[in-house]
Amino acid sequence: MYRLITRDNNAKRGEFHTVHGTIQTPVFMNVGTAAAIKGAVSTLDLQAIDTQVELSNTYHLHVRPGDLVVKKMGGLHKFMVWDKPILTDSGGFQVFSLAGLRKIKEEGVYFQSHIDGKRIFMGPEESMQIQSNLASTIAMAFDECPPHPATRKYMQDSVDRTTRWLLRCKTEMERLNSLEDTINPKQMLFGINQGGTFADIRIEHARRISELDLDGYALGGLAVGESHEEMYEIIEQTVPYLPLEKPTYLMGVGTPANILEAVERGVDFFDCVYPSRNGRHGHAYTNHGKMNLLNAKYELDERPIEEGCQCPVCKTYSRAYIRHLLKAKEMLGLRFLVTHNLYFYNKMMEEIRMAIEEHRFQEYKRDKLARMAEGE
Ligand code: GUN
Ligand code: ZN
Repeated sequence: MYRLITRDNNAKRGEFHTVHGTIQTPVFMNVGTAAAIKGAVSTLDLQAIDTQVELSNTYHLHVRPGDLVVKKMGGLHKFMVWDKPILTDSGGFQVFSLAGLRKIKEEGVYFQSHIDGKRIFMGPEESMQIQSNLASTIAMAFDECPPHPATRKYMQDSVDRTTRWLLRCKTEMERLNSLEDTINPKQMLFGINQGGTFADIRIEHARRISELDLDGYALGGLAVGESHEEMYEIIEQTVPYLPLEKPTYLMGVGTPANILEAVERGVDFFDCVYPSRNGRHGHAYTNHGKMNLLNAKYELDERPIEEGCQCPVCKTYSRAYIRHLLKAKEMLGLRFLVTHNLYFYNKMMEEIRMAIEEHRFQEYKRDKLARMAEGE
């Protein structure tokens, strides 16, 4: 259940109550695709840097180790030892971005596993069954994330099918939640808005899915090749047609600047691989822009990645040591960068929440962007 605490222009400050605790929004969800944050960051590390939500993927966990294994182990929370909220993406997006040869039919998608080439079928019912076995806090509806660019005809047909799939997801989720042996009978369902950069298709779809009284609403099919300006425009036009009293989730986005722009337009939830991916490439996010720790100028630098940062890495280790670890290809170096980056993202969300509460979001956003652009 979502409670809107306050607004600062269109920016929302909310609270989302779940069986696994309350999520303060706007929130960043830490991506652990296969029940592991890439960069060897554990759930103990996530606890230590005070993060709120972990995100995993239906498709990956279905392929390996198998959702029935996770169910036998008591569900994803027990399996990966994380008692706070978990959101699982439906497989819709991953099937389109990862899997080999695929065929989209009314009943669902036929494709090949990216691990062993095995033929798999996934439709709305299968996705809900897998997510029910994983027992995540929030399940995402099974959708098609259409390619960019797509013709208007392709987009309309795809969105219509995604709507029919959403109705099937809702029915199946209700059935699964009422079964005796369901681990999380309170599993929640978020619908996903699609329509690419066709504002009228987006709006019509948003109106349609808003009638369904789902637990939350996501914007999918963005950051798939359109410009940032086009993405902001679509968010701005679509969010007003989604329920204000429900959380809004912008899937797979993005840079700190993308997040600030989307918060300004009313988005509550975010997830993105950038903090972990950039960390694994030797890059650290700071309030003065991105840093490449491999740079020779850090060879004898005793300072932490970012002075004043309260993350466990900055409180303990120097730039010189981390640079050495990266040069020596020690995994520890990457682990440190990913930990710091996740802390940076989660900390930024905390600052955003405070700024909205104090009705100074505009000012906060302007300062943060200016500082990050300054560079070191
Ligand atoms: N992650 C990023 N974009 C999407 C999307 O459009 N659909 C789903 N299911 N996941 C996503
Ligand atoms: Zn730090």
